[in-house]
Amino acid sequence: MPAQLIDGTLLSQQLRADVAKRAAALTARGKQPGLAVILVGDNPASTVYVRNKVKACSDNGLHSVLEKYDAELSEADLLARIDALNNDPTIHGILIQLPLPAHINATKVIEAIAAEKDVDGFHISNAGLLMTGQPLFRPCTPYGVMKMLESIDYPIRGAHAVVVGASNIVGKPQAMLLLQAGATVTICNSKTRDLAHHTKQADILVVATGKANLVTADMIKPGAVVIDVGMNRNQEGKLCGDVDFANAKEVASHITPVPGGVGPMTITMLLVNTIEAAERM
Ligand code: GUN
Repeated sequence: MPAQLIDGTLLSQQLRADVAKRAAALTARGKQPGLAVILVGDNPASTVYVRNKVKACSDNGLHSVLEKYDAELSEADLLARIDALNNDPTIHGILIQLPLPAHINATKVIEAIAAEKDVDGFHISNAGLLMTGQPLFRPCTPYGVMKMLESIDYPIRGAHAVVVGASNIVGKPQAMLLLQAGATVTICNSKTRDLAHHTKQADILVVATGKANLVTADMIKPGAVVIDVGMNRNQEGKLCGDVDFANAKEVASHITPVPGGVGPMTITMLLVNTIEAAERM
């Protein structure tokens, strides 16, 4: 029997309805939640992502500002903008779209964001809070994946979760969230020997590598839940994930499609984090 799809578009609609309600309640109290998005340079993928983030805000009653700078912006000027936004009472969340141009120290820039406005959850103090089980902001993509598992009532406690990819944005925080939910977690990286040996153990398999078709059906345990965080273009220019979806869906019990899976959830959880930030201030 083919796997059941976990529909990120549908789940997002449900979660965004709640976001819109909470945004309206805050606005009625004179505190419309506000998100500032900063884009430096003209990376085509980043340009699309920030446009979608800003549109999601206006669709759901959040205030947003998009600040676009050319790729030559100095690090000092960017830090000055962040300082101004940290002190702007109409802004509750600040997001610096990554990657930044090579002459800007991304770590330094992220650390300049006030931790209580760091809706990406990338600030070192938010990473530390997550690691120690007291998260302030959960990074959006892993947070969205947890909501997807919740939506199918998956019993995470005691399950073996395998995360393929160890980035600060997805893999590492994903592993922490799964661990805190009671899973036994394996984190694989680009140097892992015999990747299939590990993926075949997974009750929950989260793949976030950016390599199209890295995970094939023979690498999946029958009945596993497969979450595909990848967003790639194949030879025909079509969007695809890191998992060979057509064959994997014949082995998995549940699987996320690309597009329409994790992608919309990432933006939804950014809205949720911005609401949470505004509710705390
Ligand atoms: N670049 C790729 N993913 C992300 C993300 O979740 N947040 C930011 N700020 N930049 C990204």
